[in-house]
Amino acid sequence: MFSQDFPVFNASGVWCTTKEELESLGKSEASAIVFKTMTLLPREGNPKPRFFLGSNFSINSMGLPNLGVDYYCSISADLRKYKKPLIASIAGFSQNEFLVLFDKINKASFDIVEVNLSCPNLEGKGLFAYDLKTSFLILKKIMKKTKKKVGVKLPPYFDRQTIKKVAEEFLKLKIDFITLVNSYPLGCFIYINKEAMVIKPNLGIGGLGGGILQPIALAQVVLFYQYTKGKLPIVAVGGIEEVSDIYRYTLAGASFFGIGTRLWQEGPEMFSRLKKELKEFLKKKKVKSLKEKIGKVKFL
Ligand code: SIN
Repeated sequence: MFSQDFPVFNASGVWCTTKEELESLGKSEASAIVFKTMTLLPREGNPKPRFFLGSNFSINSMGLPNLGVDYYCSISADLRKYKKPLIASIAGFSQNEFLVLFDKINKASFDIVEVNLSCPNLEGKGLFAYDLKTSFLILKKIMKKTKKKVGVKLPPYFDRQTIKKVAEEFLKLKIDFITLVNSYPLGCFIYINKEAMVIKPNLGIGGLGGGILQPIALAQVVLFYQYTKGKLPIVAVGGIEEVSDIYRYTLAGASFFGIGTRLWQEGPEMFSRLKKELKEFLKKKKVKSLKEKIGKVKFL
């Protein structure tokens, strides 16, 4: 699906809203170009400040600012010149909107669609992924008509039973991959001097990402990998900053890696740094390829 040598790219949302940003991913060592989650109409997103970077975490309540699905469909053919998989990310506000969005992407120059069921920042809206019945229905309809590979971006779930149910249904539906995980939906931080929230929207509460998310995301990767017996490829997202993070997620069961908060800090040059460091890391470990370590964590 993606480059096996260096299966690392951006997480949707970071460095991928404007054509210039997408072009800079194309020019970088990222092995795919993931677009900002797109909606039917362009959106300005939530009021600012809507992003905060803490010591090992970030809080975001962007509210899906994007240029609209028609715009992204109109530029995708041009981005082919980078010869990388193009991954659209879509989010509807209703079942029907997901299907309309999907139809547009299905006809456009994208290779893969990531169905984002996990945006935590839309005022008055819950996360689709926590409504299993509706989520399964949307995905069933999408899988019936798709000409593309289809992935699903999930939020963290809070019990093993739900993960098992989702894992089993996704295998039945023949979903091509899952992205684990979107930000933890309810995070906030408070300035001591101002005695105020650090971001404005939704009572100052938004998605929690960055390094702090890693133990949460790792557990999701382990459980999905175990419950699907490794049959559902996993894109790990959550606090990846160094190659040791990539290796840890590999042991847990991930095959591909998306970078969010750290990419925001370091920029797309990050990919060439990681590519070089990964080569050295694997050489030191005497491991030929990450592939041989997928899901190989030792349980005590
Ligand atoms: C946002 O735009 O609010 C973040 C998108 C997401 O978490 O899916």
